[in-house]
Amino acid sequence: MLMKVISKSLADTADIASTILKNLKSNKKGATILLLRGDLGSGKTTFAQALARELGVKNYVTSPTFVLMKGYKVNHPIFKKLIHIDAYRLNRGQDLLSLGWEEIASNPRNLIMLEWPERVTDIFTGAEQQINFKFIDENTREIQWPETATKQK
Ligand SMILES: Nc1ncnc2c1ncn2[C@@H]1O[C@H](COP(=O)(O)OP(=O)(O)OP(=O)(O)O)[C@@H](O)[C@H]1O
Ligand SMILES: [Mg+2]
Repeated sequence: MLMKVISKSLADTADIASTILKNLKSNKKGATILLLRGDLGSGKTTFAQALARELGVKNYVTSPTFVLMKGYKVNHPIFKKLIHIDAYRLNRGQDLLSLGWEEIASNPRNLIMLEWPERVTDIFTGAEQQINFKFIDENTREIQWPETATKQK
């Protein structure tokens, strides 16, 4: 089943990021990987930023579009590091492998958020969890994720 919510503001998007983080099903065999999928301006980076803030990241600068990958130490019972990747400028999975993907993706202490997963689909194993973002109007976004990505309370 899909969970689908409407965000009417940046604060709503931050609340949704917080809910997803609290209920996140972590992967014990490797990194927990969130694929942030959606058109330009649909709110992927805004969501990633809110999630980082929720994890206590204070020095979050901006989208990693030009540096591709950024890592932050976090305070969390499971995760030690939050990694934000923007694959927009990549053409294939190999480009990500060259950036050291295998090592970061194999560490269960890593929480990875990856924008533009469409660019690098060939490296995914199926253990990734996809979150979909849709532009509705200027201040409205639809955010959708599979229920299996979050634990039932
Ligand atoms: N409800 C909302 N939730 C999230 N962002 C919103 C919302 N309403 C307006 N916005 C605005 O939409 C824009 C979303 O931009 P953002 O960079 O997060 O998108 P993106 O999906 O990462 O785009 P790109 O594919 O270019 O990386 C921001 O300018 C943000 O302020
Ligand atoms: Mg972005």
